[in-house]
Amino acid sequence: MTLDVAFSPLELAPADVTGRTVVVIDVLRATTTICTALAHGAREVVVTADSAEAIRLAQSLDPARTLLAGERNAVRIPGFQLGNSPGEMTRDVVRDRTLVMTTTNGTAALLASAGAREVIVAAVVNLTAAAQRAQTAFAADANVLIVCAGRERGVGLDDAYVAGRIAVEILGGRRHRKGLNDAAIVAVDLVIRYGDRVDRVLSLSRAGRELAALGFHADVEAASQLDAHPVVPLYHERRVTLAAA
Ligand code: MLT
Repeated sequence: MTLDVAFSPLELAPADVTGRTVVVIDVLRATTTICTALAHGAREVVVTADSAEAIRLAQSLDPARTLLAGERNAVRIPGFQLGNSPGEMTRDVVRDRTLVMTTTNGTAALLASAGAREVIVAAVVNLTAAAQRAQTAFAADANVLIVCAGRERGVGLDDAYVAGRIAVEILGGRRHRKGLNDAAIVAVDLVIRYGDRVDRVLSLSRAGRELAALGFHADVEAASQLDAHPVVPLYHERRVTLAAA
């Protein structure tokens, strides 16, 4: 069996992803925001590499049904209707809308999963649902890769801890190390270190501290809410949509 974690998509070559079940995590904040938008009725989230591509793509879609969303340096991109805060993704705003989204690390992690068999979008707000989907895939072919968006081209404590939580779920609660790569062992050890104190981990992480300093405390709190949105978003060819029930 193989259960791998990558702390950053920069660690990955296309061959690491091809044909595998991949779980992508960017707790602060992209995957939390995507889960919230889809749980609140957004039709889909289309992911782009940069804001120019997002604007071009949005121009080809029905303007009455399309919203541009995304951040650079954590703040909303000028001219975009939405930033990257889960709190902005209210039902009134996103229902029946297509979101075209670009973020610094999260959307890059999704784009790096091209070629995977299935890509599950995971956060704390959908942790159990996402982990169950990954566990089902693992039961079938014993081969899952968990990709953390990370921070500034390196490890992010928030994503690494949630990777560990998902790995432990996939392993059926067992914390054994057989078949895990070193990053997965570190991630599982973070769960042993912090237990279920999600809020502690998120507020300790660099991403959490930076968001709080910018006044986004509510986003860090929203991102800590275990299973608040028990959805299973799947990414395929640049689109994130909910898995069929
Ligand atoms: C990212 O994609 O890097 C993050 O989601 C940044 C953020 O917190 O907005």
